[in-house]
Amino acid sequence: MCGIVGYIGDKDAPLICLQGLRRLEYRGYDSAGISVVVDGLLDTRKVVGKLDNLEALLQTEPLHGPVGIGHTRWATHGKPSVDNSHPHLSCAGDLAVVHNGIIENYSELREQLRGEGHEFRSQTDTEVIAHLIEKLYQGNLGDAVRAACHELRGSFALGVIHQSHPDLLIGARRFSPLVVGIGKGENFIASDMGAIRKWTDQVYVIGDDEMGEITSQGIELFDLEKQPVHREIFNIPWPAEAAEKGGHKHFMHKEIHEQPAAMRECLLGRLSSPDKPIVLEGLNMTDDDIRGLKKVIFAACGTAYHAGLVGSFLMENFARIPSEGDLAAELRARNPVVLEGTLAILVSQSGETADTLVALRELKEKGARVVSVINVVDSSIARESDGVVYIQAGPEIGVASTKAYTLQVLTLQMLACHFAEVRGVQPPEVLRDMKIGIMNVPEQAAECLAREDDVKAVAAKYYQLHNALYLGRGISLPTAMEGALKLKEISYIHAEGYSAGEMKHGPIALVEPALFTVAVAVQGDVYEKMVGNIQEIKAREGPVIALATDGDEYIPGEADDVMWVPACPELISAATAQIPLQLFAYHVADMKGCHIDQPRNLAKTVTVE
Ligand code: G6P
Repeated sequence: MCGIVGYIGDKDAPLICLQGLRRLEYRGYDSAGISVVVDGLLDTRKVVGKLDNLEALLQTEPLHGPVGIGHTRWATHGKPSVDNSHPHLSCAGDLAVVHNGIIENYSELREQLRGEGHEFRSQTDTEVIAHLIEKLYQGNLGDAVRAACHELRGSFALGVIHQSHPDLLIGARRFSPLVVGIGKGENFIASDMGAIRKWTDQVYVIGDDEMGEITSQGIELFDLEKQPVHREIFNIPWPAEAAEKGGHKHFMHKEIHEQPAAMRECLLGRLSSPDKPIVLEGLNMTDDDIRGLKKVIFAACGTAYHAGLVGSFLMENFARIPSEGDLAAELRARNPVVLEGTLAILVSQSGETADTLVALRELKEKGARVVSVINVVDSSIARESDGVVYIQAGPEIGVASTKAYTLQVLTLQMLACHFAEVRGVQPPEVLRDMKIGIMNVPEQAAECLAREDDVKAVAAKYYQLHNALYLGRGISLPTAMEGALKLKEISYIHAEGYSAGEMKHGPIALVEPALFTVAVAVQGDVYEKMVGNIQEIKAREGPVIALATDGDEYIPGEADDVMWVPACPELISAATAQIPLQLFAYHVADMKGCHIDQPRNLAKTVTVE
């Protein structure tokens, strides 16, 4: 989704904007642009395509200045084109706006402004903001932006500059993320902290319907009534290098390899001994609250939805609370019935996914208690939840989520175990084994990574095929679904994640030598049934890669290839079992020469419904 970076200070604003935008590339985009104010004039460069195109344009048509705003656009209203890319300008060309979000009342505003003589150059919703501010401007840019925000419906993070205000950068937000970076003699705005971490480790996370009026020397935060707002400084908890590739070919590869260390960090202080209770700071639930639960609803999108499915399985199967896992985008349409004693758990890496945020509000309004499982600290979903458990994965930049997924799963394993213990639904020795199993996950993840070359060899056999089926049962069904999602996201191979039991009711018709099946057949209650499904596929000449547990002597005789995982209790196999599937997808995509960190059409953080 769109990315924003703004700068004011004594450095060269276009250079900072360009470098900052590079750190937002992972969000997905199709065009880019930068505006600056220099010597009392606004100047703009825009391109279709990657930031390399913008950089090339800046070499032939240089742009310099101490205040500027930059933007990467992910098309919503109007195709990718120079006219539709941001910044958008007023009629007079004296002010520039960058925007992330969607203005819902843009058509009526556009008609109204057109009637008043404003001329539009693009098909975007954003352009109305530039014209609206122009209309409302009476010499004070802050007042004009504030007045415009009152008239806008929908979501926005804005950056605004004006040639009559060479020492002023304005940021404003409603629902779309925006931070104000605090420097010395310079300040920043950005869609996320990673974009500006190179220059500062302190930010203000501004709230909905709040604005920053920013000069090189200071930052003033206001609400839309112009009342000053006080926000604590947020110290970015990770080093600048965390947003770099650190010697890996791709961020995705780096993030896959960061998993064991991130898992240890996630467990730290929460689950330290099998004989002690699990402590989840931020959960904000007393033991009585937990005992009073009657139902748990998980809602999330994409990869986080698969983590929610694992969580839901554990809540019901282990913590013995009726539970369901929902796609956040579908939840509201169903007008869900929320009974007393319902806990909603929203899972999200970014904490900004619009569908998940909408589901949160729906569930909260209907009386559910809301806890979120989030990576990005102080994000919108985190802030609107009654309790939040951070997965502490550090920045995840590869669009295809890897470490966030396994850490979401690990966190939900702890949560379900905690609930089971408080509710007294499992015998002490079972709880103890579960805790030991969870504590072993980081080491097992490291073992999986040590076998990367074996997985790569399997990938080399299959990367030229065009269709794949991923099968799993029980708690391994989400593993199969997430494995298929990873493959399709980054390698563009058509892959379906399916219940192995349901396979006979349709997908079996697809089985033939050119379609390969990845069967999650780790040891556990459903193992024998999975072997039966593998045999059904083999009988129809479909090649099978099995994901199996170390020591399984039977499976190599059944499947064509095997990817191995260390032995662990089935209920906690999901995080570890995912790792070979991440590596498999990664190497398939790499062998196909795909753009792994920024797959086509995808955005890391989807801030529109
Ligand atoms: C996008 C990303 C996915 C991600 C999903 C949910 O579609 O491309 O990788 O799983 O959003 O994102 P969230 O930040 O809420 O986990």
